Amino acid sequence: MSNDDPMNLAAAHDWGYAGKRVVVTGAASGMGRAAAEILVHLGATVVGIDRQAIEVEGVAETHTVDLADEASVSAVAAAITGELHGLFNCAGIPGTADPRTILAINFCGLRHLTEALLPQLTPGSAICNIGSTASVNWIYHVDSLLEVLHEPSYAAALDMLEGKLADLGYPYDVSKEAVNLYTAWRSIGLNEVGVRINCINPGGTFTPASRDFTKAVKSKEFGSEMLEHWPKLMGRMAKPHEQAWPMVFLNSPFASFVNGATFCVDAGLTSGLVSQQHHPMIAAGMFWAPAQKASS
Ligand SMILES: NC(=O)c1ccc[n+]([C@@H]2O[C@H](COP(=O)([O-])OP(=O)(O)OC[C@H]3O[C@@H](n4cnc5c(N)ncnc54)[C@H](O)[C@@H]3O)[C@@H](O)[C@H]2O)c1
Repeated sequence: MSNDDPMNLAAAHDWGYAGKRVVVTGAASGMGRAAAEILVHLGATVVGIDRQAIEVEGVAETHTVDLADEASVSAVAAAITGELHGLFNCAGIPGTADPRTILAINFCGLRHLTEALLPQLTPGSAICNIGSTASVNWIYHVDSLLEVLHEPSYAAALDMLEGKLADLGYPYDVSKEAVNLYTAWRSIGLNEVGVRINCINPGGTFTPASRDFTKAVKSKEFGSEMLEHWPKLMGRMAKPHEQAWPMVFLNSPFASFVNGATFCVDAGLTSGLVSQQHHPMIAAGMFWAPAQKASS
């Protein structure tokens, strides 16, 4: 990698994307924008969707959508016609928004769009979602979150998820836990039709949304203490393309046996937590949720 090539594009060949048609949500900014730029470079026909204007050179088609609005998601899915070979679900918002909007955009909108586009994804296609290191507790909430996954309606699932917040924790974390579990749960059925689904869980990444992500962490119990110790964890924040490249890999033919995986892209943050190598305040900030507090 050099200063002239900050995204390491020169080393990349087509990665199996030449002539493939892929959808990227959140393509206007941050990780989604980086993914769209890389995919254009790799020869893919990129369909970008976002609520903001998408200004990525070479994107073949753009659509406006509000993932918080079921009708808008249905309309954009209907407007994207023809065969698809990949879906990159990058759009999302930080925990500074109101809880219902967070759950709607980060989980319900993502799932509704994915299910609506599935019939167009040809065998060999793949889907990559974005969770978060904040969803580290998802494995403890499987029973409760499965009830939500078994509810196919956007509106009813949103009501259910909102009703569970008091038990499960912070809205952003819960929205991303649902994304992690959706990835794991859906991977079995999709395997039968030749479509893979995976998820990256990014650590702190420098994007236009970073300030709001930091603000949201600060407002959590032990959040400020966790942020104090944060620089020791990763040394630095990730750059958007450092999240986009793993997604590009996961949706490529080179990851053909990877399915249902939650892939941590966090410089070891989650591994350090699980193996109890991080400062206890970081563990407290990451693991401490209202439900655990109540039962402790
Ligand atoms: N930045 C981080 O530190 C970090 C860490 C972990 C996970 N994430 C997740 O990564 C993903 C990308 O975040 P980012 O940091 O690149 O943020 P970003 O704000 O730069 O990009 C997010 C994109 O999603 C779009 N979007 C938001 N709400 C939408 C809606 N209702 N309908 C359609 N599009 C909408 C935005 O317009 C924006 O283009 C998100 O899902 C976020 O939760 C971010």
